[in-house]
Amino acid sequence: MDLHAGRPLTRSEIAEALHEARARTLLLIAPLGEEDLRVQHDPLMSPIVWDLGHIAHFEEVWLLENIEGKELGREGLRGIYDPFRNPRAVRAGLDLPERRAAFGYMAQVRSEVLGGLGEVDLDADGPLLRDGYVFRMVLQHEYQHNETILQTLQLKGGAPYPAARAVGLPGRAPSAPEPGATVRIEGGRYPLGSDDRSEAYDNERPRHRVDLPAFEIDVHPVTNGSYLEFIADGGYDRRSVWSDEGWAWRQEAGLTAPAYWSLREGEWWQRVMDLERRVDPMRPVCHVCFWEADAFARWAGTRLPTEAEWEVAALVDPATGSQRRYPWGDEPPTTLTANVDQLAFDTAPVGAFPAGASAAGCHGLIGDVWEWTSSTFVGYPGYRTFPYPEYSEVFFGTEYRVLRGGSWATRSGAIRGTFRNWDYPIRRQIFSGFRCARDV
Ligand code: AVJ
Ligand code: FE
Repeated sequence: MDLHAGRPLTRSEIAEALHEARARTLLLIAPLGEEDLRVQHDPLMSPIVWDLGHIAHFEEVWLLENIEGKELGREGLRGIYDPFRNPRAVRAGLDLPERRAAFGYMAQVRSEVLGGLGEVDLDADGPLLRDGYVFRMVLQHEYQHNETILQTLQLKGGAPYPAARAVGLPGRAPSAPEPGATVRIEGGRYPLGSDDRSEAYDNERPRHRVDLPAFEIDVHPVTNGSYLEFIADGGYDRRSVWSDEGWAWRQEAGLTAPAYWSLREGEWWQRVMDLERRVDPMRPVCHVCFWEADAFARWAGTRLPTEAEWEVAALVDPATGSQRRYPWGDEPPTTLTANVDQLAFDTAPVGAFPAGASAAGCHGLIGDVWEWTSSTFVGYPGYRTFPYPEYSEVFFGTEYRVLRGGSWATRSGAIRGTFRNWDYPIRRQIFSGFRCARDV
């Protein structure tokens, strides 16, 4: 649903959006039994019932405590649902509620939020309420945890998750450029980031200018077909294309292919939840870590783009120099412009969304797979923490790499051209691929 960035939300829009977010969360977990919700499927991820309680707790802290001024009186929950007090690896050992109790807590918080919403002065002049920021923040938080839950569901052992593949994906458009096509972006001084205060996170601000030398960037994300060539050419064993750190990790983890790939009688297969098929050469490669992306790029005689290059290729109209909100314009994604919103539970072939191309001519920037960039996650010049340091600031430094563009598992309200995601360079449980760039 379109939350109309840049303007206030009405009470009914807020209630409707909260309801829609919750309906999606519950739909996602509907097929899961008590056991699947409670166990820790992987040390990287929380038990899903933790995500559920944490979603409700975040809503409670921001909407009940901060906005409606209610005493929480549930201090015990802070101990459980504070991600910093309890890192993911220990969350299975917490005294987590049973499914019914978790649902009860979610519903309780929600009914108190809606009950108090009538009293909130939506026109109050403060950065939390202005233009509905705090509501979009709480909504985006739930959306983001939906994607986290999907990572867990892809990782889970035992019976695969029965994905509700209700929406089919378009095929590759005949008019779309071939995989391997590139576009050239002229050097210049370009806008980066956002000044929006209605939905953008603190790490996207402020809008500023960067000087970029001319570069080339892939029209599409790197496909499975290209990645198969890298594998067939011994890419995983060519020491020279790996960075030192990347090689050490490749050795330690024994990497030989993207996660969820398996070799059967000489052919590569991939699994997407409950779907198994031969690796489709036309879809973007997914579930590779930064080090694999970096090695592929060197093997191909290219490099990963910086996040500034990615964003300029995505949002700047070369004809006017102006910046869009999304590659195709200012309107939120539709089923014609991007594969987002967890509807298809799959990537689409590259070139399937010609209407979603950027003005510079890049396809597939939003949706399908998150794209690794070479940039570490740091604050933009003039960055100010808002409203809490644990969203962005505590992660700034050299440990994380920035990913851009969202994946098929990203809800549309949680992605835009300036959105910055980050993760450790060894991670590949995320829906991560990449595209390459080169100097000219
Ligand atoms: C922006 C995806 C890295 O999942 O750690 C969720 C989003 N922040 N709850 C994460 C987030 C707080 C965050 N990422
Ligand atoms: Fe969270």
